[in-house]
Amino acid sequence: MKENIENLKEKINLELKEVNDLNDYMRLKVEYLGKKGKVPELADFIKTLDKSERKDAGMLLNEFKKYINNILETTRERLEEEALNQKLQDEWIDITLPGTKLNVGSTHPLTKVVDEIEELFLSMGYDVVEGPEIESDLYNFEKLNLAKDHPARDMQDSFYITAEMLLRTQTSPVQARTMDANLEKGPIRMICPGKVYRKDDDDMSHSHQFTQIEGLLVDENISVAHLKGTLEILVKKMFGDDREIRFRPSFFPFTEPSLEVDVSCFKCGGEGCSICKQTGWIEILGSGMVHPNVLRECGYDPEIYSGFAFGMGPERIAMLKYGINDIRHFYTNNMNFLENFDRQELEDTNESK
Ligand code: DAH
Repeated sequence: MKENIENLKEKINLELKEVNDLNDYMRLKVEYLGKKGKVPELADFIKTLDKSERKDAGMLLNEFKKYINNILETTRERLEEEALNQKLQDEWIDITLPGTKLNVGSTHPLTKVVDEIEELFLSMGYDVVEGPEIESDLYNFEKLNLAKDHPARDMQDSFYITAEMLLRTQTSPVQARTMDANLEKGPIRMICPGKVYRKDDDDMSHSHQFTQIEGLLVDENISVAHLKGTLEILVKKMFGDDREIRFRPSFFPFTEPSLEVDVSCFKCGGEGCSICKQTGWIEILGSGMVHPNVLRECGYDPEIYSGFAFGMGPERIAMLKYGINDIRHFYTNNMNFLENFDRQELEDTNESK
């Protein structure tokens, strides 16, 4: 019996050396310790021995069992360690490698200008409203005091879709829409930013699609003084506190009087430079007192209500503000331009600190 056990020890030692995975391990474990394994086999054998021999044999078997348990346990630990090492090797990462650079987006210069203007007017109690880009002739022209044969229609080359529908040439139709929609016919304060379309050939300063921001205030006893005060606040916010504005008489069919607004040149301070074409003034928006015909068309009594309106091009404002020389930069999404613009702005902010 002793010899037999010694042989089995040797055998299992050899076999365990060959064990490389859990399956082999389990197989061996069953072979020795399983119900029909070698250890129970020996136990059965002991039962056949003479009583006097059983005790010693039993002790030998117990010791053998312990031995097997130990050696199996050591093997299991070895397998686990090997598996862990393999895993660590397979999933090894070089933490010293440089990371992947994430490109961080930035706000488009045009969006920046529109956001800034919206914020200002919201702070003065205006609503920001929207209107359709595919507009009817009625709202784009007729309600704004431009009858079908009105010569001023030539000022705006339009993309017609049908005889009655067109891509809006201006955001002014939203004035008429807002007044029409206001069933109480009470006071209105709104601005409307949005895209407009004209049959223009694209070049440095023209684009067939661009942005406008319309403004409209309607109430009792509104005068040019209110218009002037409001636009002064706008201009100072966009171009700096030292700026002044001046009005020049102009013509828009939907306002009477109509006024073109200039801002004193922020570059030369009024002395004359290339930006202001040596005049000291830069034209930035159109405005005026809402024409009584427009009020009437939209259900407002011009004897009670008056109002002012204005319209501006945020591209032009952004071009002036940030020194952008080509309007097409706003739409081509050239990353170089957008990134440089962003950097430029950062440098400007740092300088002013
Ligand atoms: N809609 C005009 C344009 O596209 C701009 C404009 C001028 C709007 C005067 C106004 C305004 O509301 O009062 O040229």
